[in-house]
Amino acid sequence: MRMRKKPNLVPRMERCARFLIKQPEAYRGVWRDALAPGRTLSLELGCGKGRFTAALAARNPENLYLAMDRVPEALVVAMECASAASLSNLYFISGDAGSLCDWFSPGEVDMLYINFCDPWPRKRHAKRRLTHANFLAIYRNVLREGGEIRFKTDNEALFDFSLEQFAANGFSLSSVSRNLHAGGPADIMTDYEEKFYSQGLPIFRCVAVKTPIASHEKEHAEKPMTRT
Ligand SMILES: C[S@@+](CC[C@H](N)C(=O)[O-])C[C@H]1O[C@@H](n2cnc3c(N)ncnc32)[C@H](O)[C@@H]1O
Repeated sequence: MRMRKKPNLVPRMERCARFLIKQPEAYRGVWRDALAPGRTLSLELGCGKGRFTAALAARNPENLYLAMDRVPEALVVAMECASAASLSNLYFISGDAGSLCDWFSPGEVDMLYINFCDPWPRKRHAKRRLTHANFLAIYRNVLREGGEIRFKTDNEALFDFSLEQFAANGFSLSSVSRNLHAGGPADIMTDYEEKFYSQGLPIFRCVAVKTPIASHEKEHAEKPMTRT
């Protein structure tokens, strides 16, 4: 997401600072104990302006939600949205998805959401796609067994690439749709999704479930790269 630098970014961040987890590594292994004992922990990667997770958190006050993005100018809008809605079960992390293993212990996360991530269409940029095998190894590490990645995109080439990557890297696929809203709006939409839907474009969606992998594959899969 390209956003203009905001001169008032710091004071805006400070006004909703209670929603920002400044040192996520300090919560590694104790997210639930610290913020919401016994609850389901979901994390949205590349949340942008945060409308999606804010709506989810409002709908499910019994669950704990985290949302992260590497662009503070987008994250501040998301934090303001959570503040305006007085949400007490949603927190934000400013950083890169490649750092997840620094922030979460193995199996700590129940569900990951990846919505409309940048498609990086050039082959030489494939490693930057949030569904590249290098990222999937990181997600496998922090997700519990049976944990899910819920993925949506408007980009068919990225979708096909992602289906292959999920299947080849220890995830089984379900709820695959190539036109999610064919029968009218299905569930909560993100900012990007709303825009594409209003243009009549199909939305692609799948759920990738973490599955146990064969022991001969384990060595590779259990050593995630922390940066791509
Ligand atoms: C196209 S926007 C989609 C925003 C939002 N998910 C939506 O659907 O409206 C992609 C977002 O992913 C973020 N992003 C891209 N790569 C990232 C990474 N490696 N780590 C964290 N955020 C990332 C960008 O900063 C941007 O906000």
